[in-house]
Amino acid sequence: MKILVVGSGAREHALCWRLNLSPNVSDIWVADGNSGTAQVASNMPVSPEDVDGLASLASQLQADLVVVGPEQPLVNGLVDRLGEMGIPAFGPSASAAQLEGSKSFARQVMTDAGVPGPDYRVFRDTAAALEFLGGHSSPVVIKADGLAAGKGVALCSGPEEAVLAVKGCMDDRIFGAAGETIVMEEWLRGTEVSVFAFCDGERLSAPVAACDYKQLGDGDQGPNTGGMGSFSPPPFWNDKLSEQVCRTILEPTVARMAEIGSPYKGMLYAGLMLTRDGPKVLEFNCRFGDPETQVILPLLESDPVEVMQACISGGLAQSPVRWGNRAHVGVVMVSGGYPGAYETGKEITGIDGHCQSAEMPGLDTDCFIFHAGAKPVTDEPGDTRTMTSGGRVLTVVGCGQSIGEARDVAYKRVKQIHFEDAGYRLDIGDLSEGSRSG
Ligand code: AMP
Ligand code: GLY
Repeated sequence: MKILVVGSGAREHALCWRLNLSPNVSDIWVADGNSGTAQVASNMPVSPEDVDGLASLASQLQADLVVVGPEQPLVNGLVDRLGEMGIPAFGPSASAAQLEGSKSFARQVMTDAGVPGPDYRVFRDTAAALEFLGGHSSPVVIKADGLAAGKGVALCSGPEEAVLAVKGCMDDRIFGAAGETIVMEEWLRGTEVSVFAFCDGERLSAPVAACDYKQLGDGDQGPNTGGMGSFSPPPFWNDKLSEQVCRTILEPTVARMAEIGSPYKGMLYAGLMLTRDGPKVLEFNCRFGDPETQVILPLLESDPVEVMQACISGGLAQSPVRWGNRAHVGVVMVSGGYPGAYETGKEITGIDGHCQSAEMPGLDTDCFIFHAGAKPVTDEPGDTRTMTSGGRVLTVVGCGQSIGEARDVAYKRVKQIHFEDAGYRLDIGDLSEGSRSG
């Protein structure tokens, strides 16, 4: 089978790597990829946001399956467009992707389905939002309704911060049209976990769980980022919790989406807070998570192509999904200055030997290096160097019998990799008491 993967991050490198291990796959292209995907697939110069360009690329390549990484093309209707052209694509339709594309839509679905979440209110004008805040003293979370590249959430411990967040979103439009409507939520406390399940519109696979680290600094300090690391499976994740999450959250959501005529097909990603009153939904995403994918795909024992095809055709019941339980810890290496301004074009050394096409490791390898903001530069024929090209540069994943062992493997490998001003957290996968502030 010929596969086109859409996206350019470490998540997409991990997808290409895992798809390439499938006996069903003959060719993989990726739009537009990075230096890592170039080792297992052919990079094509089409932007992951260019729905027209991607549709014609898929048709030109006669792709048998398109696998979509990021949310924007899903929300913009790439899967619908490919479907009209007769090209099977893994991911939800535009209407089902509204679970991520509109936070107010997602909250309404959850309310209608009886899915536990924080108390919330939706506001479409500033005056009403500010009036509500006037009579409200508890900490709140203010969210731009639409997609804001992961930046549209403000955790406000006091009313002054909340007022600034409302005005920034609704009056100053710092997130553009995405912030015309806001969702104001109760600030939930507890342990966060990301839960992923394949979905065929009706049924869900067994879920898999991972934890990610959003803040730049150790101990969850500093600015929010696209994720500084992750680990899976979390030691607290067990059959009882998994069953509870399926019964109270995933299944009713999927049933409600089918009921309203937007059956959900693809990867359903629930960001949860495990509170004293049980698991509650922080958000739904309509895709694989980043950096969680880098630690969960090595756990996928089933054939990814068969699973994705089953999601598209509604046959998940016939293709049960199996996950392993070996521990994986992924450390994200970033450019100095990220998530603010940073320089690119720094040479990366010390990355040979893991996840290379010439010696494709199987699922039992001890380490993976997934590339993101990195690109190959050829000065002379035969002399290709890997240079940084973005803020998020690599995810280095270690595997082991325990999270502690996996963490040691990951950091040992990280220390062998060099580029000027490289940054990374030192506490990814550190489960000792007090290592996280949340
Ligand atoms: P989101 O983009 O909705 O995932 O929000 C980003 C992060 O903000 C989440 O991963 C949580 O850490 C935090 N967050 C979102 N909503 C809430 C909430 N209602 N209570 C506490 N934290 C939240
Ligand atoms: N791990 C956060 C995200 O993928 O949105």
